[in-house]
Amino acid sequence: APENAFPRTIVLVGLMGAGKSCIGRRLAQRLDVCFSDADQEVERAAGMTIPEIFESYGEPSFRDCERRVIARLLRMSPHVLATGGGAFMNDRTRALIKARAISVWLRADLDLLVRRTARRNTRPLLQRGDPREILSDLMAKREPVYAEADVVVDSVDGPPETTVQRVEAAV
Ligand code: S3P
Repeated sequence: APENAFPRTIVLVGLMGAGKSCIGRRLAQRLDVCFSDADQEVERAAGMTIPEIFESYGEPSFRDCERRVIARLLRMSPHVLATGGGAFMNDRTRALIKARAISVWLRADLDLLVRRTARRNTRPLLQRGDPREILSDLMAKREPVYAEADVVVDSVDGPPETTVQRVEAAV
């Protein structure tokens, strides 16, 4: 585990469907700290859903709002923060996270991501074609950047507690 890992905010990064929100919420409970979800906070700040933000203002505006929200959440006391899958890809957002938090890449294989993202229909990036192809392209593009996180944990298929314990052991 990286030095001085705690008490710093633990930021979960990784692709849509990796389990960032689910694992993050449970991890926060175990560590007895607060949990925040950047996607939810962006929706709250904008007063609209993520698909509506993409539709009305476009992705660049969403990324800007996401960065400002994450900057604010990183100033709160140490806690667990789940980010949207694209947050860590933004240079300025990634620099903030790297400077102020311990980052954990929740890594998952394509089948798992496809299966998990099929449950909800709230991701504009997956509406643009075949979700498996899109996720596969995003994996190729994003994984080298996610690999810059401080630690990598494999998100396993099965009870969330297993993955939660792995994260807890790694940070
Ligand atoms: C995105 C991931 C989503 C959300 C938005 C864009 C991405 O968050 O922020 O739809 O670029 O990967 P989740 O990873 O929580 O689905």
